[in-house]
Amino acid sequence: MRATFQRLDHILIQYANIWRISPFSTPKPSWLNSHPALTQWLLALSDDDVDRLQGNDDLLCQQVGDYLPVAQEIHSLIQVPSCQQKQLTGRTYAWQRDVPGRKAEQIEAFAAATGKITSPLIEWCSGKLHLGRYLAEQFKVPVLGLEINANLVQQANQLACRMHSDARVEQCDVLDPNVVQKLNAHQHVIALHACGGLHASLLQGGVEKQVKRITLAPCCYHRFNQTSVYNPLSKAAKSSELILDSDDLRTAVRQSNTAPERERIKRKRLQMWRLGFDLLQRDIRGIDGYLPVPSLSVKLLDGDFRQFCEHVSHLKELCLPGGLRFNDYEVAGEKRFFEYSRYELVRMTFRRALELWLVLDRVMYLEEHGYRCELTQFCPTDLTPRNFLIDAVYTA
Ligand SMILES: C[S@@+](CC[C@H](N)C(=O)[O-])C[C@H]1O[C@@H](n2cnc3c(N)ncnc32)[C@H](O)[C@@H]1O
Repeated sequence: MRATFQRLDHILIQYANIWRISPFSTPKPSWLNSHPALTQWLLALSDDDVDRLQGNDDLLCQQVGDYLPVAQEIHSLIQVPSCQQKQLTGRTYAWQRDVPGRKAEQIEAFAAATGKITSPLIEWCSGKLHLGRYLAEQFKVPVLGLEINANLVQQANQLACRMHSDARVEQCDVLDPNVVQKLNAHQHVIALHACGGLHASLLQGGVEKQVKRITLAPCCYHRFNQTSVYNPLSKAAKSSELILDSDDLRTAVRQSNTAPERERIKRKRLQMWRLGFDLLQRDIRGIDGYLPVPSLSVKLLDGDFRQFCEHVSHLKELCLPGGLRFNDYEVAGEKRFFEYSRYELVRMTFRRALELWLVLDRVMYLEEHGYRCELTQFCPTDLTPRNFLIDAVYTA
């Protein structure tokens, strides 16, 4: 895993000028000129091809690899084994009836990958404690969830009570330094999709108290961090020249192929309008440069493109002159979206590499502190794209 980390590190540093430049803000990234065959191939892709490649890192690396050979190496580096699923007894009605379908499948996959549990569990950032209640039932172990949201804490405890579960949740901020007092060497700490700074505090607290076992599926590396620049955990990542900012961390989790089709269509339309507005603002400001716009609700699609531009101009305190041909900008935005979505694929070829770099930082940190780690993919990416699972057992 160390060797993989070093290769990923090298590649990400060497190709930063490709994966860091977003074709959303830079319509013609500089690599277009140096890679004409790649550009030609991208522009010949159909919309279905683009969707398929966006949601499949392996296929994307293989196909881009014909034009950009480093993508072939990325493809071999990102091959992390799927875990050996251990058989569990099925879900009970009492548990299942309160858990959304996709979440239930993720939990079953997480549990099957974790295998036998013998120690008391702490579930970090437990939400409604769906995972904790499932494991308490399967393995007859006590579970304590830690969750900041009072409403979720109350709901979780009601659900646990109703199914006579040996699981409960305490309201608690896992970023509070005192949270470490809840940990001890006999526990097994689990976390399904705890975001960046939240799972970093789990790892640091777990290491400090030498908890017996940690099973973590990390996500959203850009959230809940104390600093704007990424603070690596392991010695190897600390000594890397790769300095990641929060936009880079966001890039690592950009793939979202699990959104329903209807939502994806809306998001695309919103991006087209944003790109159309980008062209318009360049003209009216007389500056050929991107103007950052905050995230916008898909509800704006209920109006027309002109109203959208008026709304965004108001947000950016821009004055729209009379006589603007909004229809032309709308059509130009669609054309730019066509190119953007194809050029973005090249950036996305490095996405899983970046995500794995971050995951390996966590793995190496645990290894440096006496843990033996296994890294697997606990489910297919179409169930959740955040499917890396770190299972660490304290051995020192
Ligand atoms: C992405 S959700 C995951 C919930 C659950 N593990 C699951 O998979 O359904 C992250 C959870 O972290 C909780 N959270 C956010 N900040 C927190 C904090 N500082 N301390 C404890 N929990 C926090 C949120 O309220 C939310 O329930």
